[in-house]
Amino acid sequence: MEHIYPIFDRMLSRADKEQFLRQRGVMIWFTGLSGSGKSTIAIALERELHNRGILCRILDGDNIRTGINNNLGFSEADRVENIRRIAEVAKLFVDTGIVTIAAFISPSNSIRQMAAHIIGENDFIEIYISTPLEECERRDVKGLYAKARRGEIKNFTGISAPFEAPLHPALSLDTSVLSVEEAVKKLLKLILPRIRKA
Ligand code: ADX
Repeated sequence: MEHIYPIFDRMLSRADKEQFLRQRGVMIWFTGLSGSGKSTIAIALERELHNRGILCRILDGDNIRTGINNNLGFSEADRVENIRRIAEVAKLFVDTGIVTIAAFISPSNSIRQMAAHIIGENDFIEIYISTPLEECERRDVKGLYAKARRGEIKNFTGISAPFEAPLHPALSLDTSVLSVEEAVKKLLKLILPRIRKA
């Protein structure tokens, strides 16, 4: 890019920040259908990590889409742009040593690969919230599945737009059989060794 002069070489490094915080930055990337429990688990996980003295930041579909991404819809191209911007923002947090928790449908393998590529594959932990469609639709917390079935929302993931399950998630959590507490317990077991710094 012309006339752009990055200053990264003069800024404090990620290692400096991680030393300061006594933790490692990592990306915890939840993927799953709307209503699968991504945000609920993200919030419960953040609380548990916070109580252990770990600094976290949640990025969540409904708040990012009312702010930085308020010009994007749900076409395939807009979903790619949604996740691209989120991944760039998430990278800033991870590079600050913060445990960054993303809760977005991120419906395809290619979209999640793009996110992992931007953030860095080694920092990217993919968690599949695998609650089945029938259960998400039964809950219909936001009433969106009913609207999608009536044709009032187009391109609705799981109804009129595709969702590809991840091929090799670090963990799959089905909230139709696991409680939030059980899900968080499994997450902590996986994540804490990646975060803690001597
Ligand atoms: S993503 O596909 O681009 O990753 P994102 O996680 O940001 O989606 O937003 C999903 C949330 O937007 C859903 O939980 C739901 O509340 C709302 N939403 C509105 N329209 C749609 C749609 N057509 N498909 C999926 N979710 C939608």
